[in-house]
Amino acid sequence: MSYSNLLIEDFGAVRKITVNRPDKLNALNSDTLRELDEAFAEVAADDSVRVAVLTGAGPKAFVAGADISEMNGLTPVEGRDFSKRGSDMMRRIETLNKPVIAMVNGFALGGGLELAMSCHLRIASDKAKIGQPEIKLGLVPGFGGSQRLLRLAGRAACLELCLVGDPISAQRGYELGVLNEIAAAEQLEERTMAIATQIANSAPLAARAILDCVVVGGESNMGDALSYESTQFGLIFSTEDMHEGTSAFLEKRAAVFKGK
Ligand code: COA
Repeated sequence: MSYSNLLIEDFGAVRKITVNRPDKLNALNSDTLRELDEAFAEVAADDSVRVAVLTGAGPKAFVAGADISEMNGLTPVEGRDFSKRGSDMMRRIETLNKPVIAMVNGFALGGGLELAMSCHLRIASDKAKIGQPEIKLGLVPGFGGSQRLLRLAGRAACLELCLVGDPISAQRGYELGVLNEIAAAEQLEERTMAIATQIANSAPLAARAILDCVVVGGESNMGDALSYESTQFGLIFSTEDMHEGTSAFLEKRAAVFKGK
């Protein structure tokens, strides 16, 4: 599959997907939303890929938001469809069968922060700035921003970022729990790829079960969530990797996981 607005590169079992519209600070237009949906469907289906890293091209931006020039001309029905296209694509990432790491190399604003928050981990440059500035355009977040920020950082932070609309520093984003880690800009790629490779070398079926537990548990009551976790725990005993991992520990050797 070839893409107009994405770059796709494989580093072993790590697939790097780069939104590639640097002259528009990687703003998400309809074509880019569609291509991201296809690219993540490919990640899900390709057994040789164990982890995805998502980033933006150029030195300035991860993604500076949904494309304002495209939104400016939409009818209400087209606006709903634009929101749904982005929302469905980000839900695909959130519920993907493999971990996705957002490498936040610069501005992650509006749809850019929404995209990063749909990923499972966020590693950011110390130069990054994040925010939900939609209110300054007379808009509201439309790709799940008000909901994922509420769940990640709580009501006070969510309302502050969405109502005030000013970008915040990576440091503040880390303190609020929106970002997992901050790296010096020049070390961001190396650090992110190290984390991605560590996860890619671990047991993929266990990673998948953990992702499922967090998605299902985050949207269920505690009793149902614990019951779901117990079922996943039981299921993992059917994998070769579980026997390999526990045996390797007992035999004092490194485990080799096969995804079986
Ligand atoms: N949609 C469409 N185009 C965008 C964009 C977006 N969300 N964000 C940036 N761009 C475009 C600019 O229009 C400009 O295009 P041009 O060169 O054809 O005029 C180009 O990207 C570079 O942006 P510019 O504003 O010149 O860069 P800057 O360094 O001065 O400012 C930002 C950077 C991020 C502060 C500024 O681009 C910005 O505020 N962007 C919008 C952020 C936003 O509101 N996002 C939420 C959208 S819902």
